[in-house]
Amino acid sequence: MQEKIDRLLEEIQFLTASSREGVEQLRLKYLSKKGLVPLLFEEFRSIPKEQKKVFGQQVNELKSKINRKLDELDASFEDNEEAESPDLDMTRPVDQIQIGSRHPLSIVRNQILGIFSRIGYTVAEGPEIESDWYNFSALNFPAEHPAKDMQDTYFIEKDPDMVLRTHTSSVQVRVMETTIPPIRKVFPGRVFRNEAISARAHCIFHQVEGLYVDVNVSFGDLKQSLFFFAREMFGEETKIRLRPSFFPFTEPSGELDISCNICEGNGCNICKYTGWVEILGCGMVDPQVLANCKIDPEKYTGFAFGMGIERIAMLKYQINDLRLFFENDIRFLKQFQGTC
Ligand code: PHE
Repeated sequence: MQEKIDRLLEEIQFLTASSREGVEQLRLKYLSKKGLVPLLFEEFRSIPKEQKKVFGQQVNELKSKINRKLDELDASFEDNEEAESPDLDMTRPVDQIQIGSRHPLSIVRNQILGIFSRIGYTVAEGPEIESDWYNFSALNFPAEHPAKDMQDTYFIEKDPDMVLRTHTSSVQVRVMETTIPPIRKVFPGRVFRNEAISARAHCIFHQVEGLYVDVNVSFGDLKQSLFFFAREMFGEETKIRLRPSFFPFTEPSGELDISCNICEGNGCNICKYTGWVEILGCGMVDPQVLANCKIDPEKYTGFAFGMGIERIAMLKYQINDLRLFFENDIRFLKQFQGTC
């Protein structure tokens, strides 16, 4: 009996528990009806009378020591909870998650696509690596056309017939080849030109082109559609003007200017004191291009246009350096948070 008491006394000095449930387990082990201490009391009943005094005292002491120890352990958890609770303010607002913002070019692309979708245009996309046919030949570029030479076009070294597309007109060809008119589509995408990087030019930029082919499509339709676009994009007061131009795939071809939205036509360095800024190229689809794409030019006519998203964004948000779009400086990008 003495041995058992001593062992338990020793044991309880080192009791630990990792939680309140742990303390409860210990309490069961030592003090429950069938626990170790009641067992000792049982044994105590059968020992000789003269020893009862000594052992009775010891067992009682053991019991109260265990009780104290378990109470102490229990209290330590209480302390922890109390120590933590002052910080636990359930009413405190959660930390704000840092959310990103859309890139300004995505915002402007979505705006352009949105405007055209309101007048019935749907979106088509195509590959960035194109064959000569889709990027040039189907669009009436003669073999020796200067735009094709090494100055402007990135050729794929292994296959000179393949290029990085220089415009998304290539997607126009793909759509015309596979669609019976009416066709009314816009073509967003990344394009590549071998140009020196400056505040006004980059070797990679983004375009939205558009195409409308149907019976009786006229130059008047072109003008009205683009007028609608300009006003939606730059405001009700925006005026447009068309200047004659040249593209191999449109005839006649034009360039569209809008009244400068910065000086409202009074003259500033953005419009070079002319009151007008160029925003896109356009024209009636050349009948030969329709024929190249197996569309009957006797039956159908169409117009096409193409614009650089960077240019539209620069005008819209008065950004004076195109390179800012590619640097991804968070201070620049943050300014567009919540714009779309
Ligand atoms: N593809 C021309 C360019 O990239 C733009 C354009 C498209 C012009 C359609 C006329 C018609 O510059």
